[in-house]
Amino acid sequence: MKKVSLELGKTLKFLSLFMVVLLLVFGASGEVDAKKKKKKIKLTDEENAMFDRWNVKPKKRAKAVKDLRKKPKFVGAVKCNGSCHDPYYQAWTKSPHGNTYNLLKAGVRKEAKERVKLDPNKDYTTTPLCLRCHTTGYRQKGGFKPAGSKNKKGKDTATKIDPEEPNKEQVGCEMCHSVAGGSQFRAVMKSSKGDFTKADTEKYGQRWDYSNVCTRCHTHPNTPFKPSVHDKYKFNFEERKLKVHKIADFWNEDNADQKLEKVKDRAKEQGQTEKTPLVIEDFKIKKGKLKFKKGTKPYNSKKKTYKYKKG
Ligand code: HEC
Ligand code: HEC
Ligand code: HEC
Repeated sequence: MKKVSLELGKTLKFLSLFMVVLLLVFGASGEVDAKKKKKKIKLTDEENAMFDRWNVKPKKRAKAVKDLRKKPKFVGAVKCNGSCHDPYYQAWTKSPHGNTYNLLKAGVRKEAKERVKLDPNKDYTTTPLCLRCHTTGYRQKGGFKPAGSKNKKGKDTATKIDPEEPNKEQVGCEMCHSVAGGSQFRAVMKSSKGDFTKADTEKYGQRWDYSNVCTRCHTHPNTPFKPSVHDKYKFNFEERKLKVHKIADFWNEDNADQKLEKVKDRAKEQGQTEKTPLVIEDFKIKKGKLKFKKGTKPYNSKKKTYKYKKG
């Protein structure tokens, strides 16, 4: 009798253990399912109206909206090449802005450096002041990180440089076309297949205040290359603008479909940034680090607001 009850007790114990395991496995997976459901993205009416306008299929909206909702970051010029703006990218790699990093190397443009009392034999490719105006998005999300950059754990985070494929180490597309990086408006351009308005991309951080954005570098108080040093540093926007995109020779059979179809419609529009240009970042070097001065950043990523010049 005693033996039987012992056996029964064992079986019961085993059974209850089995139940617990079952509960754990299925109960937990039920929870995961619920989490998955919770995470399912719900589009706002405004977002849906936007996608309707661009004829984006409902299936594709959740993925597209993910990129749009993330904070803006710099993605690099290479991302604009390959299927959308190949002639612009290729022309840029051969233009002055596609080679600005190289000017920071020792021995390059000796005379110009000496004229502004810089050491022509010094390597300036890790000097914070120079990097702000000679690379893309330095000290901003996704931006260029020079050799020697490390994260908190000591892991090397320096941007890889491929001499065959200029990218964030030069003054890229995003330094003239974006407020704080092009990740979001790139998603707009892709989703809308080029059928977007200026207002559409402006909402996601593209800027159209071209004559203003050049002052980020050319007439910025921190540039060593001022007209007082040499006449050639005078900045005439209308003249210089014509030299930025020499794309004429870069069109061919393979990229002919990349001609901008809506460009004439957009030219008739006036973007908000054209009416009221954005503020321009001011910065200083403090303890060897580049710091943006308070109130001079054109985008507040916490409040998701843009800051325009007054008057
Ligand atoms: C505030 C922005 C800014 C900073 C900071 C800056 N540069 Fe430049 N740099 C420019 C601009 C703009 C030009 C082009 C000027 C022009 O051609 O009118 C330029 C041009 C140059 C040139 C070519 C000049 C010539 O006449 O050939 C060299 C070399 C150069 N920079 C090196 C440096 C170095 C080294 C540093 C850091 C010590 C530095 N720059 C910091 C904006 C900047
Ligand atoms: C130095 C600033 C600067 C850089 C760098 C730059 N752009 Fe531009 N971009 C301009 C200016 C100014 C215009 C307007 C004048 C013009 O079309 O030449 C423009 C116009 C354009 C247009 C036509 C837009 C329209 O709807 O009218 C495209 C597309 C474009 N850029 C793509 C690029 C790409 C891609 C890159 C990088 C490979 C790039 N840009 C780099 C200044 C710049
Ligand atoms: C992020 C900094 C930066 C911005 C923004 C910028 N530039 Fe530049 N730009 C440079 C640097 C650095 C050089 C020097 C390149 C060199 O000397 O090889 C340069 C050189 C040039 C040159 C070639 C100089 C020449 O005459 O041969 C032109 C043209 C020019 N910029 C036009 C513009 C225009 C127009 C804008 C605004 C739409 C603009 N840049 C915005 C940094 C900038």
